[in-house]
This record gives sequence, structure tokens and C-alpha cells, in this order.
Amino acid sequence: MASSGTMIDSNAVAVILCAGKGSRMKSNCPKVLNTILGRTMIYQIIDVLKKSGFKRYIVVCNPENIDLIRGNLNEFDNIDFVIQKKQIGTADAANSAINETIYQDISSVFIFLGDTPLLTKNDIHSLSSKLEETDILIASFDTVSPYGYGRVIHDQNNSILKIVEEADADDDQRKIKICFSGIMVFKNIDDTILLTEIKNDNKKKEYYYTDVIKIASESGRTVRNIIMEYDHLKGVNTYEQLSEAEIVLQKRIAQYHMEKGVKISLPETSHISPDIKIGKNVTIEANVHIGKNVKIGDGVTIKSFSYIEGVEIKEHVIIGPFARIRSNSIIGKDSKVGNFVEIKNSNLSEGVKVGHLSYLGDAGIGKSTNIGAGTITCNFDGEKKYQTKIGQNVFIGSNSSLVAPLNIEDETYVASGSVVNKDVPAGALAISRVKQENKIGWAKKMKKKK
Ligand code: UD1
Ligand code: MG
Repeated sequence: MASSGTMIDSNAVAVILCAGKGSRMKSNCPKVLNTILGRTMIYQIIDVLKKSGFKRYIVVCNPENIDLIRGNLNEFDNIDFVIQKKQIGTADAANSAINETIYQDISSVFIFLGDTPLLTKNDIHSLSSKLEETDILIASFDTVSPYGYGRVIHDQNNSILKIVEEADADDDQRKIKICFSGIMVFKNIDDTILLTEIKNDNKKKEYYYTDVIKIASESGRTVRNIIMEYDHLKGVNTYEQLSEAEIVLQKRIAQYHMEKGVKISLPETSHISPDIKIGKNVTIEANVHIGKNVKIGDGVTIKSFSYIEGVEIKEHVIIGPFARIRSNSIIGKDSKVGNFVEIKNSNLSEGVKVGHLSYLGDAGIGKSTNIGAGTITCNFDGEKKYQTKIGQNVFIGSNSSLVAPLNIEDETYVASGSVVNKDVPAGALAISRVKQENKIGWAKKMKKKK
């Protein structure tokens, strides 16, 4: 049974080739584990494949990168990780997938490259819907800068004859602007046998899976080429290309949210993680970094230069400018987190104001409490972290050090400049600072001495 319509056949497999050395990246990190908008390239690809309806994936790794790649993808089920022993080319990598996989009764085989992270669900559905008409389907793009890509060669009747790699192309072939994306689909797994016929008689002495196109067309199989957008199929071989891919993805995410009514000023200056959840009437000013696990409620404003991750921000909160919020935090409705405030693993209830220059770590803050400028929760004694609990309607005076573990009960005051290391009972004022003494006439005497 082959795929039909836009549905992905449940017996189809998505093979993702990730075993290459990635030498053009000049990095110690496996190429496919480089991140765009906080997600690795391979994670991004599997996420899209899963959303497109794939049920089975084969990720081809090398002996050195397999553990790291497996670790990065542990939240996905049904991934079969196989090893390509030697990195002798993409044809050998594809063959390793077919030969080593645990999957049986495979219908169609969709081959993707681990360095092509901009694919969308729609692209995959277009592939799937075209598959009925052909034995082998490839996806290509038309670009003014084809350098480095395999070129797709047609005859006068528009039949695809072969793909020629950059290194092996002659001057005329290099002028061709239709480039192979790396995506190739075999309607029937039996046709992948053609991959075993590939030789390495080329400049780089590698086994190129692109050579299968010539073998297939000569053996009478139908090969079709579907042209898709360059911005969806760009490959990432260098850090420059990685940043280009990140720009494309960022633009897409910002556009999606702007269409849903989020006001994002200068979206090209901000980083917004793909997993963000945003309510209505939200404003995101320029130069904001929103990392993973962020949920933003209705009517929130995130002001410039704020760096936030791992936080749920409830309705009508104002964050920043220059605020930093770290993982496991909740900012209650109508609260305000202002300039140079850092918050970590803390829960702020409704209407809390923490306006300036503070650090709240491992803290719980009650409703309508005001945290004065320069308040610091001293949550770490060098070995362990401790909690600070502050009740509702509390007023913490500026420049106070709250030494945890500490419980400051409801309706209390802490005098500014205090170092508080004992619990404060409800309704009390805690004051802990050296009493001021004024030495009358001291200044005049001092000057006379000189
Ligand atoms: C490849 C295509 C090229 C296409 C381009 C699109 C071949 C021969 N060329 O070139 O036609 O235009 O992608 O981006 O395929 N890999 C393995 N094992 C290997 C070698 C590579 O698993 O032995 C994996 C890599 O990890 C990578 C992918 O295959 O994810 C592609 O390899 P890469 O070296 O990046 O190929 P390109 O030169 O970009
Ligand atoms: Mg590549």
C-alpha cells in the first residue's frame, strides 16, 4: 500500500540522514545538534514529520554521534536509530537505514537530510499527494545562488535524467538553477534496491544517493520533481547557513503570531521560541528573547531587552524593559516585573510589583505585595538552596537582604536596608539595621583640621 492523498501511510518510514562528519561546520558538536531558535535541527525536522502524520522514523547516525542524537530526541516515540559504520556517502547512509532497520512491512520510503530544517507540514503533504503519480519523487528549488547543491538535469520533454553534484558538474551544468533539496521519496520500498547499484566513480569518491535518479530513469521508473520554495529547503552546511535558516524560521514564527493579533515590533530583532503560547492583545517590543516553555496571557506587554524562559505570565502583566526571568516561574495577573529584575523558580501572585534591580530566587510572593528596589533573596548558602515565603500585602523596603529559609507573613513591613534572617509574624515591622547617629558640627571641625 502506498501513500494516498495528503495522508501519510502508517507503514511509510521517514529516513533522516545524520551520519555525515559535518566538517564544513568546524565544530565539535554533531552538525544536526546545532540549534535554530533553541531547538536542534534534527528535533525541528522530527517535530514537523510527526505533525505531518509520520508514525515511523529511521535516524541514521555514526558511531560517535548516536548517543547524543538519541538523547536529544528522547521525547519522540518510534524512532529507530541505526548506525552507518563509515561515512562514505549518502547512498551508503540510505542503504544502512533500509538494511539495519527493525521496521517491517514498509510501504514508502521518504528520505530527508538532517541538515535541511526548514521543511513544513504543507511541504510534506505536497510530497505525499504527488506520490501517487510516480515511482520516485524528488523535491527541488530554484535559486539564484545554486553553489554547492546538486543540479537537476532534465531532457527536452522535462523528464528528469540525473542529478549532478557541484564538484562533478561541468560549466553548463553549474549554470542550472534547479537544485536538489536532498528529499527523495520511493513509493515502494522495493525500488530502494537501486541504491545498492550506486558506484563511487566521482571526484570525491563518495557514494552519492543522488546517482539513483540516473539509474532509475534508465531502468524505466518514473521520476518526478516537485519544485518548492528555497526558504523551505535550504541546506545548512556552515554557521553562516545556520544563521540564514534561523532568520527564516524566526520570520515564520513572528508572522504566524502577528496574523493571530500579537503586536511584535521589529520582529527581526527578537528571538521567539517555536513552542511559545500567546494570548490576545499581547505586545512584544523590539530586542526580546523568549526561550522555551513560555506561556503568555492576554494583554501582556514584554518590553525591550527582556530575556525570558520557562515562565507562565498571566493576564495584563508588564515585563521589562531589561528583565530576566528563568525557569519554573509564574507571574500572576496584573503584576509588574521591571528593569534589571531577575526571577528564578518563583511564584508571584496577583498584583505583585517588583519594579527595579531585584533578585527573587526560590520565592513565593503573595497577592499585592510590593518588593522595593534592590531586594535580594539570599537563597544559597554555598551548598543548598532555600525558600523565601512572602505573604500578601507585604511591603519590602528597598535594598533589603532576605536570608532564606524565611517566612514573612501577611500585612508586614520590612524596613529598607534590613538584613532579615528571622521569620516575620503577620502585621509586624521588621527592622534590622544599625541605628543612625548624627554628629552635629562634625563637618566644620573636619574642614578646620585640614
Ligand atoms: C546533499 C546532496 C545535494 C543536495 C544537498 C541539499 C548528496 C550526494 N548531495 O549535498 O545534491 O543539493 O544535499 O542540501 O547527497 N550523510 C550521512 N552519511 C554520509 C554522508 C552524509 O548520513 O556518509 C548525511 C549528513 O549528515 C547530512 C546529509 O547526509 O545530514 C547530507 O550530507 P552533506 O554532506 O551535507 O551533503 P551536501 O553536500 O549538502
Ligand atoms: Mg548538506
